Amino acid sequence: MTSILRSPQALQLTLALIKPDAVAHPLILEAVHQQILSNKFLIVRMRELLWRKEDCQKFYREHEGRFFYQRLVEFMASGPIRAYILAHKDAIQLWRTMMGPTRVFRARHMAPDSIRGSFGLTDTRNTTHGSDSVVSASREIAAFFPDFSEQHWYEKEEPQLRCGPVHYSPEGGVHFAAPAEGLGPA
Ligand code: RTP
Ligand code: MG
Repeated sequence: MTSILRSPQALQLTLALIKPDAVAHPLILEAVHQQILSNKFLIVRMRELLWRKEDCQKFYREHEGRFFYQRLVEFMASGPIRAYILAHKDAIQLWRTMMGPTRVFRARHMAPDSIRGSFGLTDTRNTTHGSDSVVSASREIAAFFPDFSEQHWYEKEEPQLRCGPVHYSPEGGVHFAAPAEGLGPA
């Protein structure tokens, strides 16, 4: 694995997924997207896709053998999902806090305003996924965005995004660093 030198203030990347239960409901999908924006995440990449069952199995292999594994894999391949690469300081922890507890009953009681507390239906249909460590974020980003180079992003894009100015494209649903003054269109 390539080691990347990052300053302590550097933006951190995480992979966020919106699961089929939420993608199927445009208002919930939009509400989650708005929460991403209002919590000042930078959306680095976004795509929607239907996941093949074999890819789900690979992605969730750490849970193979657990009682919920089969159910989870079937569900994640049952309809379109949305994948994001998100950037923020401590993005991994921030996104997991926004999601709330895994189990929906617990989320509703302990974090009713969290994403899962607000929209989760069951422990499987719990609206979102988030990477749980820097290592899994890298692995998961590569699984969904094979053309994305984390090293290139940290070298070229991260400093520009961190120091601004940054624009958001509502059509593409992503942020990008604004071109340096004088280089943009007249
Ligand atoms: P995630 O990976 O989805 O971001 O959530 P997490 O870290 O909070 O939960 P994890 O333990 O990694 O579990 C992955 C997904 O498996 C389903 N699950 N069901 N007790 C259960 O019924 C149970 N435990 C886990 C959930 O859908 C969870 O999001
Ligand atoms: Mg997890």
